[in-house]
Amino acid sequence: MSVAARLARPEVLALVPYAHAHWDPALERLHANENPWRYDGDRSAAGLNRYPEPQPTAVEARLAALYGVRPSQLIAGRGSDEGIDLLARAFLRPGRDAALICPPTFGMYALATCLQGAALIEVPLARAAGYALDEAALLGALTPTVKLVFLCTPNNPTGNVIEPALIKRLAARLAEQALVVVDEAYAEFSDAPSLSSQIGALPNLVVLRTLSKAYALAGARVGAVIADPGVIELLRRVIPPYSMPTPTAEAVLEALGAAPLATAQRRIAALRAERGRLAAALERLPLVRRVWPSEANFVLVECHDAPALVARARAAGFLLRDFSQRPLTAAAVRITIGTPEQNQRLLEGLATP
Ligand SMILES: Cc1ncc(COP(=O)(O)O)c(C=O)c1O
Repeated sequence: MSVAARLARPEVLALVPYAHAHWDPALERLHANENPWRYDGDRSAAGLNRYPEPQPTAVEARLAALYGVRPSQLIAGRGSDEGIDLLARAFLRPGRDAALICPPTFGMYALATCLQGAALIEVPLARAAGYALDEAALLGALTPTVKLVFLCTPNNPTGNVIEPALIKRLAARLAEQALVVVDEAYAEFSDAPSLSSQIGALPNLVVLRTLSKAYALAGARVGAVIADPGVIELLRRVIPPYSMPTPTAEAVLEALGAAPLATAQRRIAALRAERGRLAAALERLPLVRRVWPSEANFVLVECHDAPALVARARAAGFLLRDFSQRPLTAAAVRITIGTPEQNQRLLEGLATP
C-alpha cells in the first residue's frame, strides 16, 4: 500500500477531483465564461482575462528541474505556506490526528494544524545544545495519532540545520506511521544537502521549497511540495483549481532563466558573506550577548536588552523581529541580512545610544 493510501484522511482518498474547464490552448475559449477582451494595459503574455492553466505544468517542470526531481514528485503552490496547509488538510483528521513540531520554529505548522482541528505535540529544540533537535525526546513524544512531523532546516528563527542523517533515521523509523515534512525554505543559504534526493528511498519524506527567499520572489507567492508521486497526486485533489495566478507563473519562468539565476547565485553568495560580517560586528556591540550561528539569511541575536536594540534599529529606520517575549527565545531578536549598505547603516544605528 502506498504511503498516501496508508496515511491520508479517508475522505480525501475518496474525493472525486473538481472537474475544471477543459484546457486546450489550440482552441478558442467559449467554455469558461471568461471575458473575451483584455483590460486596457494588460501586459501579460497569456491574457489576464483568461483563467490560468488549471495546473501550471511549465512552472512545475521548471521547478522540478531546479530541485533535481521528477515533475510527478512536485506540486507548486502559493508559497510553501500553501504546501503546509495542503498537507494538514490531506493528512490530519480533525479531533483525531496530531502533528509534531519542534519549537522555536516557523509558525505556520502550528497554525495549519490548529485550523484543521488536529492536535499539536511540541518537542522543544535543546537550547543548551545550540537549538539541536532532541531525537530521544521526539521519539518519546510520538503517539500513534501523529501523522505529520514538521522539521525546519535551517530552522526559522534559530538558523541552525538539522543533521540530514538524523532526519533520514527518523523517516525510516516512522515509515509506517507518519510523513516527515522537511521545510528547506532557507536551504540555498546553507551547505547542507537537500533531502529531496532521498524521496525514492524514503517515500514518507516530504520536502518543502520556496522561491520567496533565495530567488527573490516572495511577492509572487511560489513554493513547492516535493514528495512521493502518490502524495503529490493526493495534494492535487485538495489544492484549489487555477491556484497559480498568470502573472506569478510568467514571473517564475522569467526569474528562473539563465541570467536571473546567475544573479541569484551571486546574491546568495553575497548574503552568506554579509551574514558572517554582520554576525561578527553584532557580537562586538555592548547590547548583544551572543549571535547564534546561522545557515540562513538571518541571524538570531541574544541581547542584554532586546527592547533597546529593537528601539535603536527603529530609530535608524529598520524593523527587526522581536522574539524576546517568548520563553524559548528569551531576549532574542531576529535580524534579516540586508544589502551591505543596509547592514552597515543598521550596525551604525545599533551602536548609537
Ligand atoms: C521556514 C519557513 N517556511 C516557509 C515559509 C513561507 O514561505 P513562502 O513564502 O514560500 O510561503 C517561511 C517564511 O518566512 C519560513 O520561514
